[in-house]
Amino acid sequence: MIELNVNGLRHLLDVPDDVPLLYVLRNDLALNGPKYGCGLGECGACSVLVDGRAARACSVSCGAVSGRRIVTLEGLATEDGLDPVQEAFIAEQGAQCGYCLNGMIITIRALLNENPAPDEAAIREALRYTLCRCGTHVEILRAARLACG
Ligand code: FES
Repeated sequence: MIELNVNGLRHLLDVPDDVPLLYVLRNDLALNGPKYGCGLGECGACSVLVDGRAARACSVSCGAVSGRRIVTLEGLATEDGLDPVQEAFIAEQGAQCGYCLNGMIITIRALLNENPAPDEAAIREALRYTLCRCGTHVEILRAARLACG
């Protein structure tokens, strides 16, 4: 059994230690915010927060994150509303197909957790390895700038 703390809830799961976190989030916990893109840790579509930092759920085993605080896109919102990063992406319509948005939003949330006032260079560096195949980068950067205010 593996214990996972996801979005503030404790889950005991009968899965192997080495199963990728992404599979358990999507298939066992029905958390479909994190997306399966490359499956190789390269695109960022599967990103989640682990103890406040961005991690690629396709490349992290459940055993490696047992007992740590995992937050998915679904867990960013609170009773008070959406996370400001989510609000910024809605305001700027920072998506075309939307498949990459999970990774973009989680990446900017992780950046803000580390640096509450990132400059343009820090925003671009943070998003550098989070890929958008539609090429919606202008809107994504606008949303990121708004979120980083
Ligand atoms: Fe995990 Fe691409 S699906 S990085």
